[in-house]
Amino acid sequence: MKVTIIGQGYVGLTISIFAAQFFEVVGFDNNEGVVDRLNHGNSHIEGVESDLLKKRIKAGMYRATTRGKDVSNSDIVVIAVPTPLTKNRQPDLSFIDSACKTIGQYISHPILVINESTSFPGTLRNFIKPAVEKYSLTKIEHMYAISPERVDPGRSDYNQKNTPRIFSGLTSDASAKTKDFYSKFCDNLVEVSSPEVAEAAKLFENTFRQVNIALVNEFAQIAHSLGISVYETLDAANTKPYGFMKFTPSAGVGGHCIPVDPTYLAAVAEEHGAPATFIRRANEVNLDMSKYVVNRIAADNGGNLKGKSVLVVGVAYKPNVADVRETAAELVIEHLRSQGAAVSWHDEVVGNWKGESSALLQGADIAVVVTKHDSVDVKKILASAPYVFDTTGKVKGAKGL
Ligand SMILES: NC(=O)c1ccc[n+]([C@@H]2O[C@H](COP(=O)([O-])OP(=O)(O)OC[C@H]3O[C@@H](n4cnc5c(N)ncnc54)[C@H](O)[C@@H]3O)[C@@H](O)[C@H]2O)c1
Repeated sequence: MKVTIIGQGYVGLTISIFAAQFFEVVGFDNNEGVVDRLNHGNSHIEGVESDLLKKRIKAGMYRATTRGKDVSNSDIVVIAVPTPLTKNRQPDLSFIDSACKTIGQYISHPILVINESTSFPGTLRNFIKPAVEKYSLTKIEHMYAISPERVDPGRSDYNQKNTPRIFSGLTSDASAKTKDFYSKFCDNLVEVSSPEVAEAAKLFENTFRQVNIALVNEFAQIAHSLGISVYETLDAANTKPYGFMKFTPSAGVGGHCIPVDPTYLAAVAEEHGAPATFIRRANEVNLDMSKYVVNRIAADNGGNLKGKSVLVVGVAYKPNVADVRETAAELVIEHLRSQGAAVSWHDEVVGNWKGESSALLQGADIAVVVTKHDSVDVKKILASAPYVFDTTGKVKGAKGL
């Protein structure tokens, strides 16, 4: 059985390495640099060890390619490409469209197409199937299924094997074949009654996080105005053994999922005339947190940041990963600069970002902790500036939310 995974990023490479224990996997990506590094056994994704990648390559079970014709004898093709937002913050399915084009142009026998990219309900039925058919050179009846990915890069307790996987095919044959495929490397498969339910469940999971993070971010502002500790209050609430789930405040949400997926749900809701009030508002509250943080820092420093050297500590969107997509640090830096501060940043996990390099963790007037990697020493953060503002709750002794 030969499996092609289109897109060799966080999702695609992770799934490739698991699937390559049992299937011959071709990792198709249109980024030549990524493909070249992968074929030399160098992983660019946290959670996928280069040694394991080398092992799969040596066993003849994995290779990466940019060439469309290398996918032509696949039995299964998994789509794992980005689903970002357009400039107008609308769902952008152009990467999925291009993946469908690869399938249409290079595959001329019936296969199973599985989508793992996150998108709104109806994408498999109304977008992917018609797009593959449009690009196919002859009329072919492929099978189609969805199994939205839930991977959390950098996490070690939950992985492909022990994270329950939702799936559904457009036909019962597609569902059965999808189950066979994933059951080789996933212990818990959850079949739902339609692809639309699977697509909606994935969006709702991340919307749940977006809304609850917004709620706790709003509460952090309320707690500060009341002169009480948000963390002590949350810990107190969390002693309730049922009906409460603890979320913690931050400078905002980041990554490819939480800031983006809820907008896919809101867009499809509004298209169908249904309200998406919480979802839209939650996004605004989280985006505004960066401004709130900078205003708090300014208020503590004489109301003016002009000419102050400010060091942003941690620019990745979450601890222990190098991923900076949609990071809250970007908005924090933007607001600091708009108030006249001279901003540099320290993040050795990220290293280089937007043409700038990680600065030393020392010598600033003000330090603001946006993301705290495990490898960064709290004492060094506290010594890096006379005033330290922490948005993570992990730097005891600093000012904070
Ligand atoms: N990163 C996560 O934690 C995560 C978790 C669950 C779901 N998802 C979803 O999975 C999907 C993929 O996300 P990701 O984080 O893996 O993205 P990514 O940016 O890490 O990787 C995507 C890869 O696809 C390649 N690519 C883009 N268009 C292509 C094309 N037409 N043909 C071949 N390759 C192409 C890119 O070069 C890149 O290497 C998205 O829909 C995302 O929302 C991501």
